[in-house]
Amino acid sequence: MSRPQDWDHGVKSKSSDYYYDEYHLVGSERSGPDLSNIGGKFPNEYHIIHHQNPRAVKPGSNMPRFDFLSLRELEDLTAYLQGLGPNGTRALDVKTGEMKWAKFVTATGPDGKSEQVAQWKDGVKEREAIVAAAYEAHPEVPYKYHAEVEELMYGTSHEAQNAKTPLKALATPTFATEAALEEARKEDPEMKAWTEVNFKEPEVMPSDPVAAAAVLKRRTVANQGKGMFNQQCSACHGLAGNGHGWAAPTMTKRPANFTEAKFENYTTDAWYWRISRGVPATQMPRWELTLDPYQRLQLAAFLKYIAQNKGLAKLEGMPVDNYDQKLPGVAFMPAAAQAAPAPAK
Ligand code: HEC
Repeated sequence: MSRPQDWDHGVKSKSSDYYYDEYHLVGSERSGPDLSNIGGKFPNEYHIIHHQNPRAVKPGSNMPRFDFLSLRELEDLTAYLQGLGPNGTRALDVKTGEMKWAKFVTATGPDGKSEQVAQWKDGVKEREAIVAAAYEAHPEVPYKYHAEVEELMYGTSHEAQNAKTPLKALATPTFATEAALEEARKEDPEMKAWTEVNFKEPEVMPSDPVAAAAVLKRRTVANQGKGMFNQQCSACHGLAGNGHGWAAPTMTKRPANFTEAKFENYTTDAWYWRISRGVPATQMPRWELTLDPYQRLQLAAFLKYIAQNKGLAKLEGMPVDNYDQKLPGVAFMPAAAQAAPAPAK
């Protein structure tokens, strides 16, 4: 039995997959996802955060916290998970018999002895390139989008949604309180409303500490959205939001590529609206049914960030302390807990 939310976890496991298992842990009732194909699906950092605090990246999850494990243990566990399935580090290339995605590197163990461990051949970029090749190999099925038909069938359409104004009314009250705005304006007196915040990375880190703090805070908010994006959206939209997720090649209407120029000028409201409502007649879900407004706003911040910076920019491999933020009710832009990065040269 696969739960609907695990539809993208690959081929279902069969009883024969567990024939040699001791003990037999698999019962007939499943309360967690089938992990047999989990390798390569998420970056290592995702697994580590997910074990430390599952709710931070998977809202509503009933998985227990494993934050009592040491970092070393979490890394070992992650290494195991990344080995599973056809995209995992242990997968072999049928033609050459070589490891497909992984290479061996020498690492020093806790006892000071060196050992061989499997690691990804390269970073996210290399793996995105592998998916991109699969993406090109499956041409998109011609897709006709008729606004009128969508209106009739679904009572709404992409166009009808885009035409709806004002979108501002959607911003959640907790987020748009005067106090939160007041706080944000302290950093940037020019700021009219938080929805107009620009996420573009400055060429050079500002030397003014207040301006520099504002840059870090924006990164923090975007990075929180990134955690959720890795979990909920990357299978379709790709880890870097370029639309090349693992599931993309199979889809009639391809997931959006947020690094396209047209997304640069989307307002926060427009992002929020779209994430909330989904895209009718495509596989894009209606996230207002599963994510709370604060989570959707964090996602909006992340999408704005990657649209304006044409990719992950400074969020790539960023420290993750801030995933532990309490979610609802926090003022806009929770205090940045990570160390300031070295100023850009
Ligand atoms: C099952 C696959 C799938 C998942 C999961 C998914 N999307 Fe999408 N998404 C799509 C498809 C397909 C489209 C439609 C692309 C289009 O209309 O050109 C889309 C479109 C969008 C758009 C609209 C872009 C535009 O043209 O305005 C946004 C925004 C978006 N997705 C955000 C998200 C976010 C945020 C998540 C995670 C919370 C997510 N998506 C998860 C498949 C998915």
